[in-house]
Amino acid sequence: MKPFSIGVFDSGLGGLSVLKDILDELPQYNYIYFGDNARVPYSGKSAELIYEYTRKAVDFLMKKNCLLVILACNTATAISLPKIQREYLIHCYPERRVLGIIRPTVEAIVEKNSKRVGIMATYATVISKSFVAELKKLDDKIDVYQNACPLLVPVIEEGEVQWEGLNLLLRKYLAPLKEKNIDTLVLGCTHYGLIDKKIRSLVGPSTKILSEGKVTAQKLKEYLKRHSALEKKLAKGKKREYYVSDLNERYKKMIRFFLGKRFSKNDKISQVKE
Ligand code: DGL
Repeated sequence: MKPFSIGVFDSGLGGLSVLKDILDELPQYNYIYFGDNARVPYSGKSAELIYEYTRKAVDFLMKKNCLLVILACNTATAISLPKIQREYLIHCYPERRVLGIIRPTVEAIVEKNSKRVGIMATYATVISKSFVAELKKLDDKIDVYQNACPLLVPVIEEGEVQWEGLNLLLRKYLAPLKEKNIDTLVLGCTHYGLIDKKIRSLVGPSTKILSEGKVTAQKLKEYLKRHSALEKKLAKGKKREYYVSDLNERYKKMIRFFLGKRFSKNDKISQVKE
C-alpha cells in the first residue's frame, strides 16, 4: 500500500505560514500542500462556492493519498468543515480525517486564560461567527470582538509585505480592537501569520498575539499522540510536494520565500490541472 501523507490546504499561499510551523514541529512526515491561488480570495464568495472549492481541494488531497487533511484556512474551515465532515468524508473516506484550524486556535485561547479576545479575519470568517460560537462553547464568559480585514489578503498574496501602506491598513484594522482593551489578539487568517512581526510591533506589549501556525502544529502533535493507530500509517520519509491552481515563476519564488530554509531543491511545485 502507498504510504499516507498529511495534506495541508489553503485558499492560496498564506497557508504556508501554517505548514512552516508544522514542518518545524513534525518534520518526519510526508506532506502535500495545495494552495488554490487561482481562486484566492475565498472571502467574499458565496458559502456554496467556498464549500465547492474546499470539497474539490480536499478530494484532490485524498486522491493523493492523504490520510489526514488540515484545512489551514479559516475561511474554508468556518464555511465548509462541518459539511465536509457530514456529507463528504463519511461517504467517501470514512477512515480518514479532515481537521480545521479554528478549533485548535480556540482551545489555545481558552488555555491561555484570555478574557477579552480580538479576532482579525476575513469577511466570510467574521460573518460566519465561527470563532465566537466555538469560544463561547468552551467559555461563555469570554468577550469576543471581531474585525474583518479584507484588504490584507490581496496585499500579502501580491508579496507586498514590505509596502509602507500595509502599516496604514493595519492601524485602521487594529484600532477598533485596541479600543476594546483586548488581552489577546488572534490572527484569524492564515495570511496574517506572514506579517505577524509587523502586527506585533503595532499592538502594545500587554496584548498576547496568538499565532495559528504554532498552535495548529502543537495541537496536531498532540492529536497524533492520541491517535496512534492513525499515526502509524503515516509515511515518515520527509517528502514534500507543493501544488497550486496557478503557477508561474513569481508564485514559485513566493513559495520558496514563505518557506525559507524549509524548502529543499528536491521539493516539487506543480500546477493542478482541472
Ligand atoms: N486563507 C484564508 C483564511 O485563513 C484567507 C484568504 C481568502 O479569503 O481566501 O481565512
